[in-house]
Amino acid sequence: MRGLILSGGKGTRLRPLTHTSAKQLVPVANKPVLFYGIEAMAAAGIDEVGIIIAPETGAEIQAAAGDGSAFGITIEYIEQDEPLGLAHALLTAEPFLGQSPFVMYLGDNLLRDGIVNLVDTFRTDQPDALILLTPVPDPEHYGVAELNDGRVARLVEKPKEPQTDLALVGVYMFTSSIFDAARSIEPSWRGELEITDAIQALVDRGLRVDPHIVHGWWKDTGQVQDMLEANQLILDDVKESIEGELVDSRVEGRVVIAEGARLERATVRGPAIVGHGTRITDAYIGPYTAIGEDVTITHAELEHSIVMSGSSISDLEYRIEASLIGKNVRIGRGPTLPKAYRFVVGDNADVQVL
Ligand code: TTP
Repeated sequence: MRGLILSGGKGTRLRPLTHTSAKQLVPVANKPVLFYGIEAMAAAGIDEVGIIIAPETGAEIQAAAGDGSAFGITIEYIEQDEPLGLAHALLTAEPFLGQSPFVMYLGDNLLRDGIVNLVDTFRTDQPDALILLTPVPDPEHYGVAELNDGRVARLVEKPKEPQTDLALVGVYMFTSSIFDAARSIEPSWRGELEITDAIQALVDRGLRVDPHIVHGWWKDTGQVQDMLEANQLILDDVKESIEGELVDSRVEGRVVIAEGARLERATVRGPAIVGHGTRITDAYIGPYTAIGEDVTITHAELEHSIVMSGSSISDLEYRIEASLIGKNVRIGRGPTLPKAYRFVVGDNADVQVL
């Protein structure tokens, strides 16, 4: 069995971060989202994985994930010229996947319990496809599945009047029958070859599509709020480890301070993680915060936030919360009068002041 991770796409909902970087490399608890998917593949014994990349961000993804040896697998990169949909990405990977059954995993998704159970069920039951579903409170915002006699009978994209609350999770298992199904469909109103339409085509051809209900949490990190929630969910399981240097500082609860980090007159209240080379001085880091590598935080308070590497935050009057701060960002107080806000902010940024 092979694996396919989709790590192309436009990532428009995560601008401005995606103007300069791939959304799949945004860190959740200081690890790129994409790595959770790769690790899930490796844990399920899938050691040949193809990763779909976009021309703009492919090189960065290749540099991060490499040849897969760091994960104990081999990775092949497959460029998709344009983000024409999940079913288009899958067709682009057909030469790599061949006749092998495969797991398809959206590179910006996180699945708490991994895919081991799912792969076992697929191997034992041998359906033509197996899709993951999870009950959600707002099915009208998702692709949902209607079941009949334990099989998938119909898939509906964002139904106005949902008949079920079972939303499609971004992990699927397919046999090679999905390729003909994907070739048979037309682009949707948004110009994409939709995976829901391709799966519906399998059902319409009388092929067997099994549901698999997921009970552990699942997160699609396509938007800022989701990224912060994913960070919270992963940090909830973090194990305490203090390797950095603490000077007149206090850590409470489950906190990770990486080797080479230094805290001085600081309080960190977990769950939280602080990366290598980071300096936190006269500052407070509250629950559900992930601070990347080589960050400087001085005279500031933060919680429920992600700060990416190389950034610096200093001398703030109020606490920062629910924020996603990119790489090499500087947030601080200007030294001179007149007292004013001064911004150098990229396109599509979102700044809220008191
Ligand atoms: P989406 O989040 O559905 O699409 P997107 O990345 O273009 O984001 P946005 O809607 O904010 O513009 O994609 C889910 C995953 O699949 C994500 O990791 C990107 C990947 N993908 C591809 O690899 N190829 C594609 O053609 C598309 C649409 C997505």
